[in-house]
Amino acid sequence: MRFTNKTVFITGAAGGIGRQTGLSFAKEGANVAVSDLDFEMAERVANEIKSAGGIAESFKLDVTNQNETIETMNNAYKHFGGLDVAFCNAGIREIVSPLELSIEEWRKVIDINVTGVFITAQTFAKHCIKEKIKGNIVITSSTLSVTAAPNRCAYTSSKHATAGMTKQLAIDLAKYDIRVNAVGPGVIRTPLTERYFQDEEASQKVRNLHAMKRWGEPNEISSAVLYLASEEASFCTGTNLIVDGGWTAGKDW
Ligand SMILES: NC(=O)c1ccc[n+]([C@@H]2O[C@H](COP(=O)([O-])OP(=O)(O)OC[C@H]3O[C@@H](n4cnc5c(N)ncnc54)[C@H](O)[C@@H]3O)[C@@H](O)[C@H]2O)c1
Repeated sequence: MRFTNKTVFITGAAGGIGRQTGLSFAKEGANVAVSDLDFEMAERVANEIKSAGGIAESFKLDVTNQNETIETMNNAYKHFGGLDVAFCNAGIREIVSPLELSIEEWRKVIDINVTGVFITAQTFAKHCIKEKIKGNIVITSSTLSVTAAPNRCAYTSSKHATAGMTKQLAIDLAKYDIRVNAVGPGVIRTPLTERYFQDEEASQKVRNLHAMKRWGEPNEISSAVLYLASEEASFCTGTNLIVDGGWTAGKDW
């Protein structure tokens, strides 16, 4: 098992990608700190991991709150006696014309998707330096960190920022033996995207976005996260690994 005696801290861990990544890390021997704004759902995921024979604890965390993040990571560290990987995954998205997008909505998306990721990564990096841990940070970016899609101005801007942040943190933290990488999913079936699947026309459109003519499943993202956080990726830092069934490879015409 690749993560025996390691502890992984996941944000947005109650959602589709976070939950599956927690389950996958636990299967590989990791202790999992399951954090989410939605504590009830986080508890459910932690219980699911425990029922499958893993080790997990749930934490309520709003990633936009720096003090709460510091306190929650400290609590996870005390609970498990270590903290080795941070998966900065919590994120939201708007679907509205940029002409109609309110400044409140813009700020909310940027606050969670950019500032929240930065707060999690910074808090974790300080912990690693203090405890002399060879840490690993994985950030959830998106295909929209390298391209755009209609009516997602705040989301696309936020995800491009995560790609830049990944590179910047990678070069600044390498001297502390901390690797920083991102995973950029195509469309993955999760609560965030569930509404695409409500009618056949919309789900066909989603399939057609990808060269492989299908959407992805959360385990196809968690496997990439585990790879980047593992020793198999020991020379990998500053990478934005796009996992998108060929969406951004080019257009089919
Ligand atoms: N599903 C996709 O197709 C897809 C594609 C590309 C990127 N992503 C990214 O993957 C990540 C996870 O998405 P998902 O599809 O699992 O979505 P999801 O909605 O299922 O999960 C997101 C989780 O984040 C939590 N969250 C929201 N605001 C928070 C906050 N302020 N503090 C802490 N937690 C908060 C939510 O409660 C939820 O549990 C996001 O960053 C998203 O942008 C998803």
